[in-house]
Amino acid sequence: MKSHYMNEAECGNEEVLMKVVVFNGSPRKGNTYTVTRVFLDELAKCGDLELSEFSFPKDMPEFCIGCQNCLGGPREKCPHKTCVDPIYESIRTADALLFAAPHFGASCMPGSMKTLFDHLAFMEMTIAPRKENFQKKAFILTTGSGSKQNIRIIKSCLITWGINRVRSYGIRMFTDQWNKIPEKRRTRFEKSIRKAARKFCFLKKKPPSFKTVIMYYINRFVIGSFMKEGDYPYDYWKENGYFRKAPF
Ligand SMILES: Cc1cc2nc3c(=O)[nH]c(=O)nc-3n(C[C@H](O)[C@H](O)[C@H](O)COP(=O)(O)O)c2cc1C
Repeated sequence: MKSHYMNEAECGNEEVLMKVVVFNGSPRKGNTYTVTRVFLDELAKCGDLELSEFSFPKDMPEFCIGCQNCLGGPREKCPHKTCVDPIYESIRTADALLFAAPHFGASCMPGSMKTLFDHLAFMEMTIAPRKENFQKKAFILTTGSGSKQNIRIIKSCLITWGINRVRSYGIRMFTDQWNKIPEKRRTRFEKSIRKAARKFCFLKKKPPSFKTVIMYYINRFVIGSFMKEGDYPYDYWKENGYFRKAPF
């Protein structure tokens, strides 16, 4: 896979391939779907995109049953492996992730999207960090008046996955139908989404945040001090050399 993050000067003639995974939190082709298409359309203008898309609940129809197989051993023991595998594999090889979620009341993200984070909790930094996650960037696109809280929760999940370049845009449209938004407002939203997409495209790599570094040292101390060989994730950390060298 060719992966290349652009700077503004590079954008233009040069074709760029960015592997993007899209998570659609709303099954209907409504507000969230519409703004996602605008975002992707603008992203595609910056260069070639390779897209993988997952929609919830269609692509993750099972709830996490809390068996903890993935926390106490290699993730392959998950009873919902057939749904989790393609998603995990797409994330593993992606350059960028796009989370598109409507706001659902006080509980924020739709339950069907939360099952994604439940099923992927094994790759949190406190358990088995994935080296490649520290190289990725993510964008959160939300619709509904509680977008701010929704973004905050999704962002905190991504940070525990090791992704520290997270950008977002929340749209308060006060209607369940994009076409009902007055044209002037709609145009303004579209402009802002396109601007956010271009900025995201140019987002450069950056060193891990202070919080990420601290999280790593705390986890290394806890796992290294209170676990032993034969325990999981002690063995995972040892095999990957994370006791000696940070994954970022
Ligand atoms: C269960 C549920 C709860 C919702 N709660 C809120 C809310 O608290 N605030 C809000 O502005 N919209 C709320 N909405 C509306 C949606 O967030 C909003 O219409 C969104 O843009 C729908 O996205 P979609 O068209 O992609 O499905 C709720 C919708 C549902 C289904």
